[in-house]
Amino acid sequence: MSNKNSGSELKTPTHLAVTMDGNGRWAKLRGMARTAGHKAGTQALRKLVEYCISYEIKYLTIFSFSSENWSRPKDEVNFILRLMRHYVISDLEKLNKNNVKIKVIGERDTLDKTILELIENAETVTKNNTGLELIIAFNYGGRGEIASAFKKIAQNIQNGDVSINDIDEDMISNSLYLPNIPDPDLILRTSGEIRFSNFLLWQSAYSELMFIDDLWPDFNEKTFIKVLQ
Ligand code: FPP
Repeated sequence: MSNKNSGSELKTPTHLAVTMDGNGRWAKLRGMARTAGHKAGTQALRKLVEYCISYEIKYLTIFSFSSENWSRPKDEVNFILRLMRHYVISDLEKLNKNNVKIKVIGERDTLDKTILELIENAETVTKNNTGLELIIAFNYGGRGEIASAFKKIAQNIQNGDVSINDIDEDMISNSLYLPNIPDPDLILRTSGEIRFSNFLLWQSAYSELMFIDDLWPDFNEKTFIKVLQ
């Protein structure tokens, strides 16, 4: 794919993180079921991945399902899970061909075996790819991530591998789900909500934040360029 960024004034982030919000409202505005919004949201996600490849962004983190999302109506949760399963199965070959490396962050211990296998397979198939790193935050919460980092550190202290005085910011960063990824330089949230909602709490310390009114399924290249500008 060509680099549309060459020769332009656009300053692309190294790591873009996106909260894809507003699927439900998008559907409601059209008199459709919320699930139709999630389906349209998946199409918008496909486009975002294409733009990131095309504009040579190295890391893209998307908030696909938060640890709090389980409290939504059961039918909606099941629909989103099916959609994500379908996305990974149907798009894996294309993503792999486009040199995309897939990684998933979030709590894995409580996940259903079929979802876990799907995640592990996508990560294994794409692990040697060198292009865009697509980081899918699934069953993810920023506080949960920090708590799990503290557990790892506490375990290392208990094992006698490190002492309390060794704890510093680097050690905490290195104990998060993905230690070797630079912090996001830009975090985008759509749909006009101006909140973090437990997304990348530790990693966002120095990120630029951008909140736009567009609902996620309406996301397109024009919006993407506006965001970069
Ligand atoms: C937020 O909109 C969106 C979600 C909770 C789910 C996001 C899922 C997708 C875009 C599709 C599947 C993901 C992958 C990785 C293929 P909302 O439902 O909170 O909208 P609302 O705020 O308008 O109700």
